[in-house]
Amino acid sequence: MDLLIENAGQIVTCHTNGRRFKAGKYQSQIGLLKNNSIYIEKGLIKWLGKRLPDSIRKKTFKKIDGRNKTVLPGFIDSHTHLVFAGDRANEYSMRIKGSTYEEIAKAGGGILRTVKAVRKSSKAELIKLAKKRINSSIGFGVTTIEAKSGYGLDTKTELKMLEVIKALKKEIPIDIYATFLGAHAFPKNIKREDYIDEILFEMIPQIAKLNLASFIDAFCEKNYFIPKETEKIFRQGIKFGLIPKLHTNQFYSVGGIQTAVKCKAISVDHLEVMNAGEINALKGTGTIATLLPAVSYFLDISYAPARKLIESKIPVALATDFNPGSSMTENIQLVMSMAVHKLKMNIEETINAVTINGAAALGISDNAGSIEVGKRGDVVIFDVKNYRDILYHFGINQVEKVIKRGKVIF
Ligand code: NIG
Ligand code: FE
Repeated sequence: MDLLIENAGQIVTCHTNGRRFKAGKYQSQIGLLKNNSIYIEKGLIKWLGKRLPDSIRKKTFKKIDGRNKTVLPGFIDSHTHLVFAGDRANEYSMRIKGSTYEEIAKAGGGILRTVKAVRKSSKAELIKLAKKRINSSIGFGVTTIEAKSGYGLDTKTELKMLEVIKALKKEIPIDIYATFLGAHAFPKNIKREDYIDEILFEMIPQIAKLNLASFIDAFCEKNYFIPKETEKIFRQGIKFGLIPKLHTNQFYSVGGIQTAVKCKAISVDHLEVMNAGEINALKGTGTIATLLPAVSYFLDISYAPARKLIESKIPVALATDFNPGSSMTENIQLVMSMAVHKLKMNIEETINAVTINGAAALGISDNAGSIEVGKRGDVVIFDVKNYRDILYHFGINQVEKVIKRGKVIF
C-alpha cells in the first residue's frame, strides 16, 4: 500500500542535492519544510510538496495526518555489535567501583568473555536475541542498522555470526548491513601470526564467496591490532570486495587514522583520543568520522573532539556502538542527546549525523538518509511541533510512528 503523510507541521529533509554527506558549516543545514506532505510509492519517496498533484490524488493510498507532527528521515545506526550472547553486567559493576575497561580485558574479561558466550550459542539463539534488540532500536526511530561479527574469533564462529546477520535480513522489517570484524581481538590458544593468517586466508575468502559482509573492520589499538596488521587485513579485504571501516583512537593514538586513510576507509570510528596531526590526516579525504559518545559515557573516558572535526570540514556521523562491554544501549536518541551536551554539536549537526552522514558511513547516501524524491520511504514521525523538541525534551521517546519503505513498522 502506498502512503501519504499529509500536511506535516515540520519536515526535516536533511537533503543534500546529490552530495554524499554534509560537512563543515553545511552539517548545520537540515532543510526545514513547514506544512508539506510526503507521498511514498512502492517504497520510495515519489513526491514532496504542498499541493498534491491530481495524478497522485486519483490513486488509492493510506493517509496519515501530519498536523502538529515533525517528520525526520529514519535514523541510521551505522555502528553496532548487536549480535552477541550473555552479558557483562559483572564487569559493569567492577567498572563502577573503579576498575577500567583495559584492566578488565587484561584479566581475561572484555571481548573474550563475550566470545565464549557466542561460541556456545546456536544460530537460533543469537537470532532471537538480536531480533529483540533490533525491535528496540526501531522503537527509537532507526530504519537502517549495521551489525558486526567479531565475537567469534575463529572461522566457524565468525561465519556463524555473519550467517545470523544474513538470516536477520529476512526476519526484521529494516535494512541491515554486515561488517566482518574478525580483527576485533586476539583469541587465546593460537599464535598471533597464525590468527592473522586465518583471517587473511580462511575467513576473508569464505566470507566473500558466501557474500556474507559488505564491510571489513578491525580494532587498531594498543593491545589489539597494530597498523601493519590492520593494513594487511584491509588489503586482503579490499581484494575480496570488502570496504574498510576502522575502530581506532579509542584509548591511544597508534597510527590507525593514517592506516585508514591509506586504505581509503569509508569511516573511522571512536576517535575519543585525537591529536592535531590525525585530524589533519583526515581532512579532505571524505572518510566519515563516526563518533560514539555513549562509549565515553559508559566507560567514563574522554569525548571525541567533534567541534575540531567539524571545523576541519570532516563529516561527522553518530552511532550507538551498541555492544555488551562499552555501550549497552540501542537508544540512538540518547546518543543524540550526548552529542549535543558532551560533544557540543548543535541540534542540526546532530540530526544530520544520524541520517545523511550515517548513510554515507554505510555507502548508501544515494538511497537513504534524507527525505528526497527517489530515496527510500524511510521516515520517523515524532509527536512534537518543532524538531528541536526531540532533543529539548530529553530522556523520553517521542516517536509516534516509524515508517520503512512506506510501511508503518512501529
Ligand atoms: O566498539 N572497541 C572495540 N570494540 C567494541 C567493544 C566491544 C566489547 O567490549 O565487547 C567497541 O567499543
Ligand atoms: Fe564498536
